[in-house]
Amino acid sequence: MTTTSDRDATPGTDPAGAGRVPFFPPDLFHEDRDAFLRILYDIGTGADQKFILGDHTRRFEDALRDRLGAADVIACSSGTSALHLILTALGIGPGDEVVVPAFGCAPLAAAVLHTGAVPVFGDIDPRTLTLDPADAETRVTARTKALMPAHMFSVMADMPRFTTLAAATGLRLVEDSAVAQGAVLDGRPAGLWGDAGLYSFVQVKAFGMPGEGGAVVTRDEETARRIRMLRNHGQDGVRRGLHHVIGVNSRFDEVQAAFQLHRLAGLADRLDRRARIAAHYTGHLADLPGVTTPPPGTDGRCHYVYTLLADDRDALRDHLAAEGVDTHVYYPKTLPDQAAFAPLTAGRPGTGWPHARDAARRQLSLPVHHRLTDAQVEHVTAAVRAHALRAHR
Ligand SMILES: Cc1ncc(COP(=O)(O)O)c(C=O)c1O
Repeated sequence: MTTTSDRDATPGTDPAGAGRVPFFPPDLFHEDRDAFLRILYDIGTGADQKFILGDHTRRFEDALRDRLGAADVIACSSGTSALHLILTALGIGPGDEVVVPAFGCAPLAAAVLHTGAVPVFGDIDPRTLTLDPADAETRVTARTKALMPAHMFSVMADMPRFTTLAAATGLRLVEDSAVAQGAVLDGRPAGLWGDAGLYSFVQVKAFGMPGEGGAVVTRDEETARRIRMLRNHGQDGVRRGLHHVIGVNSRFDEVQAAFQLHRLAGLADRLDRRARIAAHYTGHLADLPGVTTPPPGTDGRCHYVYTLLADDRDALRDHLAAEGVDTHVYYPKTLPDQAAFAPLTAGRPGTGWPHARDAARRQLSLPVHHRLTDAQVEHVTAAVRAHALRAHR
């Protein structure tokens, strides 16, 4: 393949030792294990015994802010919490509606509900699998306060059109960029398109870490100030014990902050490795009958996971499993089809979501993490090709 050759199978990079290709390998943090143990020891035995929201967290936030050119970055306890903090800081609450994609993760709906507002589901674009701006516009009512598109798998939502729509309708724009750290669209980084964006650092994300965490990113200082207060029970960070607003506990861990600071230098290489693997898949799978690959290109791409659509998804999945390739179906049901959220849609007009339902039925994610060897990537590619060509003979 066209990727770097220094990752050809070497001891320790193929954990199963028998060609099995794990979706997420147990050696995801392999290069940084020693650093992690040293950081754990140093902070654990440090004189100040500071384990949350200390100097490491501040330096981590500053480093992300400087790389992005954001007004501020606020580290918090998860991507889900970041969504909730943003919606709360923007004043969204009971009586309000937020348009979210019908296809995606549960926090897209749950974070809205936890503010007291109601998520309204819009259909997705069948190729990018992200919220369709034209469909979203049809969901706007007098109660709508915000649009909340989410970048999906490896493709950013159409943020230029959402920016235009938000401006034309006077709505807030929340960019769920949880999976898109490092992506850039039209020269603007993921996270900086709307009033605020976020990243998730949960283990499996592109800048995942061994634990839970996330960050809010924003170009707006006032939004940042409110989020800093909200994340620590409404205190202002200057004097403890004074609660200006009703906040939550969404604080960040010092060990994780120091570890992420250490790993920041390698992020670009890891993202590059993912991008090369994704390009290889698309280059070799796009022509297959019954298979739809993500749209090719590099602008607005993030490669959190590589997800294709297959007409016979379950058969392909079984075939890959037999070939030793782990795959994943992220969202087997659309959000409005989930028991938790279905009652929200009763009596609402236009509740079809045909593209979201099609994606739920056909989507299959292939391993794309940076620890894959070239041989593993070739094996995954060949296995998908063999199945698709045999199935359509
Ligand atoms: C699009 C999207 N938004 C939000 C989240 C929530 O992030 P976390 O798992 O860190 O709470 C995720 C993570 O799965 C996600 O994929």
